Amino acid sequence: MRILGIETSCDDTGISVYDSIEGILFNKVFSQFNSYNSYGGIVPELASRKHLEVLSKLIQNSFEEFNLDKNSINAIAYTAGPGLTGSLLIGASLAVALAFSLNIPTISVNHMEGHLLTPMLEDKKPKFPFIGLLVSGGHTQLINARGIGEYELLGESLDDAAGEVFDKVAKLLGLKYPGGSNLSKLAESGVRKNFCFPKPMINQKNLNFSFSGLKTFVSNVIKKEKFDFQTRANIAKEFEHVIVEILVEKSKRALEKLNYTTLVVSGGVSINKVLRKKLNNMMNIRKGKVFYSRPELCSDNGVMIAYVGMLRFRKFKSFDLRILVHPRWSITELKSI
Ligand SMILES: Nc1ncnc2c1ncn2[C@@H]1O[C@H](COP(=O)(O)OP(=O)(O)OP(=O)(O)O)[C@@H](O)[C@H]1O
Ligand SMILES: [Mg+2]
Repeated sequence: MRILGIETSCDDTGISVYDSIEGILFNKVFSQFNSYNSYGGIVPELASRKHLEVLSKLIQNSFEEFNLDKNSINAIAYTAGPGLTGSLLIGASLAVALAFSLNIPTISVNHMEGHLLTPMLEDKKPKFPFIGLLVSGGHTQLINARGIGEYELLGESLDDAAGEVFDKVAKLLGLKYPGGSNLSKLAESGVRKNFCFPKPMINQKNLNFSFSGLKTFVSNVIKKEKFDFQTRANIAKEFEHVIVEILVEKSKRALEKLNYTTLVVSGGVSINKVLRKKLNNMMNIRKGKVFYSRPELCSDNGVMIAYVGMLRFRKFKSFDLRILVHPRWSITELKSI
């Protein structure tokens, strides 16, 4: 089976063709991040207009570049939520129109399920059941994943997502958007000695997170301190350390709670090297296994949508040609849709 995946939930236009035998035939992402430097964040109206401008050309050019015939596609999967309404509607409309013209089904895919299951595309694949740590720009969630579409939310951020805080602190440190990777690079030059930041909710037994107080604390420190390179690097290092400690500790508790030995980590923040190192250590001690995606599949892409579209199509045999998006679609509602 061969599926075209279309991802337009936020500011990346991602498309891919995934073939159940040959694997990923191509993966193209057009990123808008340079468009927002003067705004300091995504402007939803501009993001949807950019998807409209880019998406059909990207599909056309990619099929030509990789010498693929559109008639070889068996279905089209698209992100139906969660995400920005206008951006989702562009992907959904194009997916349904193209599928209608090719007389093939469409499959609506939950963006977070896409992130969660992407590590299954690696040679070293996780098996259900597992604890999923979803850490992205809009989500920080711990999921009890029992099977495809069987997800229980164990805990989540009560305010900002981990990636969002990385981006906001990066901005305060004078780094360009998107800040997570830039902050992480700056932290490599830092030393942990002058600062001690709070670790919100680390001592609470529940599996929720809260990062906005940490952001405010760091913001106040930045205002008081010198703004030279080394001070900024030291702040970045301590901030990264604290976020990582919290994510590792709560993941450990989730594994203990359910007595699971497998952890799957996905979303853009899972690229973070310090996070991977600390999670690897924790899982080594627990004699468990931890799984990640290759870096280019951690942030938004069409591969994850095509792949999950294929899994869902095979399992549920369901598809429809309605143009439906769900901007606030929780991964735990999947079975009911
Ligand atoms: N090396 C890194 N360290 C920490 N954070 C990072 C790193 N690289 C990327 N990120 C963060 O990952 C986030 C982007 O990830 P992703 O594309 O999965 O999020 P999103 O699609 O915007 O949000 P969601 O998937 O929740 O809708 C950004 O917040 C970015 O700062
Ligand atoms: Mg995402």
